[in-house]
Amino acid sequence: MTTAAPQHQPRILSGMQPTSDSLHLGNYIGALRNWVGLQDDFDTFYFVADLHALTVPTDPELITRRTRITAAQFIAGGVDPAGSAIFAQSHVAQHPELMWVLACQTAFGEASRMTQFKDKTAKGQNANVGLFTYPILMAADILMYDAEKVPVGDDQRQHLEITRDLAVRFNQRFGETLTVPDAHILKESARIMDLTDPTSKMSGSTSPDKGLVLLSDEPARITKKLKSAVTDADGEIRYDVEGKPGVSNLLVIHSALSGTPVAELEAHFAGQGYGALKGEVAEVVVETVGPFKARMDELLDDPAELDTILAKGAERAAEVAAATMDRVRDAVGLLRPAR
Ligand code: TRP
Repeated sequence: MTTAAPQHQPRILSGMQPTSDSLHLGNYIGALRNWVGLQDDFDTFYFVADLHALTVPTDPELITRRTRITAAQFIAGGVDPAGSAIFAQSHVAQHPELMWVLACQTAFGEASRMTQFKDKTAKGQNANVGLFTYPILMAADILMYDAEKVPVGDDQRQHLEITRDLAVRFNQRFGETLTVPDAHILKESARIMDLTDPTSKMSGSTSPDKGLVLLSDEPARITKKLKSAVTDADGEIRYDVEGKPGVSNLLVIHSALSGTPVAELEAHFAGQGYGALKGEVAEVVVETVGPFKARMDELLDDPAELDTILAKGAERAAEVAAATMDRVRDAVGLLRPAR
């Protein structure tokens, strides 16, 4: 028997770190748009992982600004504050609280095996303990809300696995308390590549500015970036990721935003040159990013209103989080504070 019988639609939770001044087209097509599409059928919780962002030393003003930007971009991308709880992780104090309890169920060796930590420290990043416990905080984020599905990119797979392991172990030790989540790994089919190097993923941390379409870019800038996208010399518009990564990337972007299947695009562009393809992709991207940017700017012009949205989201989240912590306290034997 489970004590965690949820009285709501199946719950979805995901988060993004406020680590850049803008999401890019890859984040939008690969993740955010997916979040938006889940809102109707699920009880959705989307948050800005500001505590996770502290694992890398960052200027305090940057974290503040980027937390608001990230939240504004969720909303501009179609996450509806009336339907989804949109909040900042640090506004729900139970996250680090649950993390502590879970950390005490995590073997040191298990945490040491996390590849993201190993990669980052191997690259010489001066790691702090927060970076080490990053996956345990992420497990707390997820388990707090009885999330059944967690839409994330493939790079988060191992974090989802440790989350599941921790939930199962907790339930074995203390009785059914936590919901074991499923990873909902977002499809690689709509993988958006760097415009200057179409064999690498479009990445906010490693792509050069010219390789990225930022959701905060002005239309003229977007057009310029797409027109100078790297293609190849054979002049044929055909989808072939291995042989023609640049052209394939442009077709994928077009198709993802226009909804036109790639095969139809190939037929449509038959006999035309790359200039035509790039021009049309630029138009399609501007049609999406233009309204997005307008809405984002509007939200960022009124930070008080945005903060109110975040406060409401945190209030909804905290209600669930408090109930989870009560169960967790009961399970492990921590006295509930008298209320
Ligand atoms: N680690 C995730 C990333 O970098 C962000 C994140 C933090 C997250 N907590 C989460 C994602 C909980 C999903 C669920 O992309």
